[in-house]
Amino acid sequence: MLLAVMMLASTVACNNLPGRPAPVSDVLRPSQQTDFAALYAQNCAACHGPRGEGGAAIALAGPLYLATVSDQVLRSVTTDGIPGTPMPAFGQSAGGTLTVQQIAALVDGIRKWVPAGAAEGVRPPSYVAGVPGEAKRGAIVYQSFCSSCHGPGGDGGKAAGSIVDPSFLALVSDQGLRTTVIFGRPELGAPDWRGDVPGHPMTDQEVSDVVAWMAAHRVPYPGQPYPSGAGKSLQGGER
Ligand code: HEC
Ligand code: HEC
Repeated sequence: MLLAVMMLASTVACNNLPGRPAPVSDVLRPSQQTDFAALYAQNCAACHGPRGEGGAAIALAGPLYLATVSDQVLRSVTTDGIPGTPMPAFGQSAGGTLTVQQIAALVDGIRKWVPAGAAEGVRPPSYVAGVPGEAKRGAIVYQSFCSSCHGPGGDGGKAAGSIVDPSFLALVSDQGLRTTVIFGRPELGAPDWRGDVPGHPMTDQEVSDVVAWMAAHRVPYPGQPYPSGAGKSLQGGER
């Protein structure tokens, strides 16, 4: 009996010699990780919040958001990123590190945050713009639904900051604006499409128009105060 224990102890000890490769390594290669919590924590939590509640970027765990957005969108955005915004491309096919299986595990796990049917009976405007927007009409929509918080011109008011700042607009896609207008940023106090003017939910058309109005404030060279005369003021010191 004692001998058996000693033999067992010595085999265990030998197998654990430092540097000796185990027959099958128990350390997962990064590409083999398919545990949702680990994948999400490593790749997404820093921007979308540890539990998808939002942070630097929008919440992914909102029941209405998840009821509206398709798996196909979740997959393609995670694979290819959103060009021109801080949302990176994670798919190996797009130069990222995650496999097709890992992205499927992420989409699956994000879906499971919210029980099926959590948004039953609520009909948000469509996720993808169903009708083209028009900036001119959007200016009127802006006055009715948004100016109370974002100020008369959109450049900030008592309750919220600027949404026409060129540097902000340079880093956000039109769909990103649309997603924010529809689902709000509850974690920041921004209302959803029903909350801007209580009792008057925004229509699909109104959402498209106000997004077109914000997008119309984009400028070619954001962050440069004197785009046309920049060269001159550097060389000639004209100020
Ligand atoms: C009740 C006040 C309120 C109303 C009404 C409102 N917002 Fe906001 N909005 C906020 C707050 C608070 C934030 C959080 C950031 C901030 O303070 O600017 C915000 C943020 C935003 C953002 C930026 C989100 C980000 O990613 O940083 C956009 C875009 C936006 N709102 C668009 C709109 C539009 C368009 C309307 C009208 C359809 C609207 N908001 C109506 C309060 C409001
Ligand atoms: C460096 C910050 C950052 C990281 C990391 C990040 N995201 Fe994003 N994500 C963003 C930003 C910013 C947007 C909004 C871009 C836009 O449309 O303007 C976004 C948008 C999205 C959207 C689309 C939202 C919509 O409008 O419907 C999805 C889905 C998404 N991210 C999923 C993920 C997943 C899954 C991960 C991890 C694998 C991840 N993101 C990691 C910053 C990030």
